[in-house]
Amino acid sequence: MTESTSSISSMSSLSPLGSLSSLSSTAHETDPLVSVSGLAKSFGDHEVLRSIDFDVAPGSVTVLIGPSGSGKTTVLRSLNALDVADAGVVRIGDVGVDFAQRPVTKRQVATLRAQSGMVFQSHHLFPHVTVLENVTAGPVLAQRRDRPEAEAEARELLRLVGLEDKDGAYPYQLSGGQQQRVGIARALAIRPQLMLFDEPTSALDPELVGEVLRVMRDLAAQGWTMVVVTHEIRFAQQVADQVLFMDGGVIVERGTPEEVLTRPRTERARQFLHRILDPLD
Ligand SMILES: Nc1ncnc2c1ncn2[C@@H]1O[C@H](COP(=O)(O)OP(=O)(O)OP(=O)(O)O)[C@@H](O)[C@H]1O
Ligand SMILES: [Mg+2]
Repeated sequence: MTESTSSISSMSSLSPLGSLSSLSSTAHETDPLVSVSGLAKSFGDHEVLRSIDFDVAPGSVTVLIGPSGSGKTTVLRSLNALDVADAGVVRIGDVGVDFAQRPVTKRQVATLRAQSGMVFQSHHLFPHVTVLENVTAGPVLAQRRDRPEAEAEARELLRLVGLEDKDGAYPYQLSGGQQQRVGIARALAIRPQLMLFDEPTSALDPELVGEVLRVMRDLAAQGWTMVVVTHEIRFAQQVADQVLFMDGGVIVERGTPEEVLTRPRTERARQFLHRILDPLD
């Protein structure tokens, strides 16, 4: 086997379809990969999430929309255990945490966090190290994986996001869209089961939005399971399997993009969509 085929075959263990087939021996094909029930979170006396329930099928894309302050980021941060919920159960694959059972241990938090890769609104890259080192930091430092193997995989991931020639560059030498794509490669590098995106294009100049959305669309087509907070409605229409509309810490509407985005049932969703589609109206 040549070196390049071996790095590609090691990527196939990374591929979401690979992880699906290994799951299918133990789980029924239609079992959700992610299951959230009764998720609740307050900051002080402000109830930010009030009993959030949803499932995410393996290989599917869920888009979360809703007004500012409705709790979208808190949902993603709870899935990634950056916020520790007050109550509710989060299960990702075969890792489940019941947040009502106190104390929630550091080990539970770390195990849940390792199931998902998160891409933030702004990239959070390490400024003083190269693109390649940014992508290998998680696998090498946190997961203690072999450096040559992590580097080979990182190069494959950089190819996946269209940045194979930028491995030696520093973040400041890249455009905002390129930095965001490095952020995606870095999140993928820990081999997560689930990818979380929090408004990944909202801090970008308009002409750079497309290159990031195209990478995300490609990941979806490859079978990655994704939960995406975005107000890019055309992306949601084209790529989402389900859309959740949140307001005031609850999911007010859920359904296919056609149901929620084109024929919203509630006045709240209609008004929200009207505001983002026709901001001058
Ligand atoms: N660490 C925190 N401490 C106190 N309040 C917080 C904290 N994090 C979030 N909140 C509050 O929780 C509410 C929900 O915040 P969240 O960031 O989840 O909203 P969002 O839907 O992502 O909004 P946006 O569209 O503006 O990003 C807001 O009122 C916010 O001020
Ligand atoms: Mg937010």
